[in-house]
Amino acid sequence: MTRIKVGIIGVGNCASGLIQGVEYYRQSRNMQTGLIHERIGKYSVNDVEFVSAFDIGETKLGKPLAEAIYSAPNEVQWVERVPGCERIVMEGPILDGVGVFAEKMIKPIEQTKSVEELHREIVQEIHGTGTSVLLNYLPVGSQKATVFWANVALETGCAFVNCIPVFVASDKEWSRRFEEKKLPIIGDDIKSQVGSTIVHRVLMKLCRDRGAAIDRTYQINVGGNTDFINMLERERLESKKISKTEAVQSQLKDRLEEGNIYIGPSDFIPFLGNRKLAFIRIEGRMFANIPFNMEMRLDVDDKSTSGGTAIDAVRFAQLGLDRGIGGCLTYPSAYLMKHPPVQMSDEEARSKLDEWMNA
Ligand SMILES: NC(=O)c1ccc[n+]([C@@H]2O[C@H](COP(=O)([O-])OP(=O)(O)OC[C@H]3O[C@@H](n4cnc5c(N)ncnc54)[C@H](O)[C@@H]3O)[C@@H](O)[C@H]2O)c1
Repeated sequence: MTRIKVGIIGVGNCASGLIQGVEYYRQSRNMQTGLIHERIGKYSVNDVEFVSAFDIGETKLGKPLAEAIYSAPNEVQWVERVPGCERIVMEGPILDGVGVFAEKMIKPIEQTKSVEELHREIVQEIHGTGTSVLLNYLPVGSQKATVFWANVALETGCAFVNCIPVFVASDKEWSRRFEEKKLPIIGDDIKSQVGSTIVHRVLMKLCRDRGAAIDRTYQINVGGNTDFINMLERERLESKKISKTEAVQSQLKDRLEEGNIYIGPSDFIPFLGNRKLAFIRIEGRMFANIPFNMEMRLDVDDKSTSGGTAIDAVRFAQLGLDRGIGGCLTYPSAYLMKHPPVQMSDEEARSKLDEWMNA
């Protein structure tokens, strides 16, 4: 059985959760709870391995991946250790990866190598390890760094899974470049398994399907990890806000005016760690124009909910590679990502995805 060889870009909490989650399923052979798909094509969770990894933090560089995933400021601690992830975490170019608030937690190294030199070493590492899928888990606002890595994927013949809100898969020109090389790309910005986006989308669609008018809505998110401290820097957030807002607007027949919809990461509360709280409110009117409102509060482990989707994204990317399909994978992106090139309802995306998977 062929294995899926994943390369990680950004060995933060999400990567740690994904890797520890895969080890959890390896240890609990018959356990399927928590998986969207038990198998994708011929691939089970146990067929995913992590063969290369890249970061810039002084606590992680030069360590085996199995050690780096537990290094500060990472906080995921689900399994004691992950045997087999022994590849050393290599240096990537910092570019715009580190924000002013996250810097003191991430502790980036002083880079002495040029981008060209790092690029050469990275290409060698990807070829040497047989990496086939590159998974982008850089911090929000890493526009230049994501462009660097998307180009590396094109150059090294890897599929690219873009979990962050930099618009690559949803950009026509990037998708065309991947299509030309017959390489699949899935993105952008991972839609967590049971996260605030999917819950908000489904509630909005429910109101719409039941004939209610929606007047106003908000979604406020708080958490206590590096992702949330990074998002305090509002300049890094532009595409995140677009991605999250469009994910919800796309479920409405009539778009809400800008002043009637607020969706975004809103604060950093250190003691929450990887726990994320989302507060969602919808105000509308139903039969006879009578008003109603609803409020819900979601309390999730932000890294479990990210890993639950990423484990499918890497397997769909490999399936695309196996089938020789290039460009943005429409259905995996629509179901698994917040900002795909084509938005659908989650129900439609799931049914089209499964049809495509089984074709
Ligand atoms: N539920 C979720 O957690 C969720 C959902 C959607 C999107 N995302 C996105 O996934 C990304 C990763 O989230 P996270 O919680 O793991 O963040 P994190 O801060 O824990 O991890 C980011 C990692 O990237 C490294 N890094 C920074 N600049 C780099 C560079 N130039 N090259 C290589 N490595 C670099 C950091 O050292 C750190 O290890 C974020 O952009 C986040 O918004 C997460």
